[in-house]
Amino acid sequence: MTLNIPTAGYAVLRNPQTNKGTAFNEEERRKLGLEGLLPPVPTSLDHQIARIHAQLSTLDNDLLKYLFLSDLQARNETLYYAVLMSDPAGFMPLVYTPTVGEACQKFDHIFHSARGIYLPISAKGHVKRLLNNWPEKDVRFLVVTDGERILGLGDLGVGGMGIPIGKLALYTACAGVPPELCLPVTIDVGTNNTALLEDPLYLGVRQPRARGEPYDAFIDEFVEAVRELFPRSCIQWEDFANINAVPILAKYRDRICTFNDDIQGTASVALAGIYAALRISGQKLTDQRFLFLGAGSAATGIAELISQAMAMEGLSLKEARGRNSLFDITGLLTSSSKLMDFQRPFAIEHQPIGDFVQAIKALRPTGIIGVSTVPKLFDQKVIEAISEINERPIIFPYSNPTSRSECTPEEAYSWSKGRAIFASGSPFPPLIVGGKRFVPGQGNNVYIFPAMGMAIYATEARRVTDEMFIVAAKAVAEQVDQDSLDVGLIYPQQSKILASSLHVAARIAEHIFDRELAGVRRPDDVAGLISKKAYVPSYDRSP
Ligand code: NAI
Repeated sequence: MTLNIPTAGYAVLRNPQTNKGTAFNEEERRKLGLEGLLPPVPTSLDHQIARIHAQLSTLDNDLLKYLFLSDLQARNETLYYAVLMSDPAGFMPLVYTPTVGEACQKFDHIFHSARGIYLPISAKGHVKRLLNNWPEKDVRFLVVTDGERILGLGDLGVGGMGIPIGKLALYTACAGVPPELCLPVTIDVGTNNTALLEDPLYLGVRQPRARGEPYDAFIDEFVEAVRELFPRSCIQWEDFANINAVPILAKYRDRICTFNDDIQGTASVALAGIYAALRISGQKLTDQRFLFLGAGSAATGIAELISQAMAMEGLSLKEARGRNSLFDITGLLTSSSKLMDFQRPFAIEHQPIGDFVQAIKALRPTGIIGVSTVPKLFDQKVIEAISEINERPIIFPYSNPTSRSECTPEEAYSWSKGRAIFASGSPFPPLIVGGKRFVPGQGNNVYIFPAMGMAIYATEARRVTDEMFIVAAKAVAEQVDQDSLDVGLIYPQQSKILASSLHVAARIAEHIFDRELAGVRRPDDVAGLISKKAYVPSYDRSP
C-alpha cells in the first residue's frame, strides 16, 4: 500500500493517515518540519491510548463519546483503531449499535466532518466520476446503504451514512481489514420520512424515495462503476428495506462479489448459536426441528440457511425445510395458509394451528426461535411445553431491542428448570437462577461479518456463497470454549473478538480456496495468510 504523503509538516499533521500527533519522535519532527507545531515531549502510542481513555471517561453520554471518537478517526486513524482494539467489546456499542442509531437520527444536526462517498440520485450518469473522487484507488470493501431501514429506526435518508461508517470500523477493529481499503457509501434516492423532509437542516435529497426503474438503474450504475474502478472489491449491502434488499442480492450475488449482512450474516450467526448448542446437547443438526415465532425476513433467512446446512449433512433440501416450520400472527404456516413467496418453502402439510403451545405439542421441535418483534410471547406455558419434550431445549428469543425480546434469560432458565440452551438478539447480563450462574449469549452479527470481510479481502474471493456463511457459523461455534459452554454461553466472548474473527476468517478462506473461488494462489498456510494481512494499528505502517 502506498499513501499519499504530503511533504509539508503541517499537512502531515492534518492527514489522519499520516498523523501521529504527539507520538512523532524528535527525528521525525526535525525531518518533517514539525518542530514547534506540537508540545515538545514525544509520547508513545500506548500513552496516547491511555489519554483517550481518560478523556472519554469525562464524557457523560454515549453520543458525546461517539462524536469524540469520530473526531479522533478524522484526525489520527492509527490511534482511533488502537483505541477501539484496546477494548473492542467496550467500544462496539459506542461506534456501532446502539449509539450509532442516535447518531444517524441526529445526523443533520451533528454533522461535522466528511467521510465516505455520497451518491445522490441527481448524480445519475455521473456515479463513476463521484466515486473516482475517493482518494484511495485500491478499494477492496464497500459497505453501502440507501438509508431506508436503519436498524429498527426506519427511513433516515442520508443520515444512514453512520451505518456504513460504523460497520466498516468494526471490519477493521474486529477482524483486521485494513481501514484504507474500506469505503462507506450512501446512495441517496430521497426519503419518505416527512420529519426529515421538513427539517431545514436536512442534508439529503429533498424528494420522496425513487422507486422502480429509476432506482434499479441507479443501483446498476453504481455496481458498474464499482466494477470498473475497484475490480477487486466486495460490496456489502446494509440496511436496505426488504423490498429492495432481497431483489438486489438476488440480482448481483452470482455476478459480482457481494453479500447482504442483514440477510446472510443474521442467518449465519443464528446457525452458529445452534452449532454451539449442539455441542452442549451432544445432538446432530439433522435431528433438530425448529419452530420459528414470526415468519418475516429474519425467520425465513435463518430457516433457509439451517435447511441448507442440514442438506450439507445428508438430508434432502425438501426434508430439511420441513424441519424448519414457521408460526406467524395467523398461526402455523401450512400449505393452506395465505403465503408470501419467500414463506412458501416452509409451509407444511398440516391442519391449521392457531396456538403456539399447541404447535409445539404437535410438531415437537427441539428449538424455538423468536423473530416476531413482539415481547413476552415465550411465556411460561411456551417454555414449559418445549422443556417437557426436550432434555435441553434450544430457546432463542432473537427480537430486538431488549424491550422486544420474546423472553428474558431469567424466564427461560427458571421455567425450564435450568435446562434451556439460551441466546438472545439483545444483550443480557449474567444471572444466577436456582443457585447456578448463567451467562446469556447474544446472537450478534459481529461474530460473522468482519471475519467474512477479512476472508474475502485476503483471498480476493470472486463470489460470496451461502456455504461460506455455513462454514463461518461452524467456525464461530468452534471458538466457544468449554468454560463458556458450562455457564450456557454459546457465543465467543466479545472481548476476544479479534482472535475469534481471525480463526473464522481462516476457515472461510480455506473454503474459498477449496471451492476455487479465490483470486489469489492458495498459500501453504491459510491461517498465516490471514494473520499476515490483518491490520495492526502501529505508527510503523505510516511514514
Ligand atoms: P419482519 O417484520 O420481517 O418479521 C416479523 C414477523 O413476525 C412478521 O411476519 C409478523 O407478521 C410476525 N409477527 C408479528 N406479531 C406476531 C405474533 N404475535 N405472533 C407471531 N408472529 C408475529 O421482521 P424481521 O426482519 O424478520 O425481524 C424480526 C425480529 O428479529 C426483529 O425484532 C429483529 O430485531 C430481530 N432480528 C434479530 C437479529 C439478531 O439478533 N441477530 C437479526 C435479525 C432480526
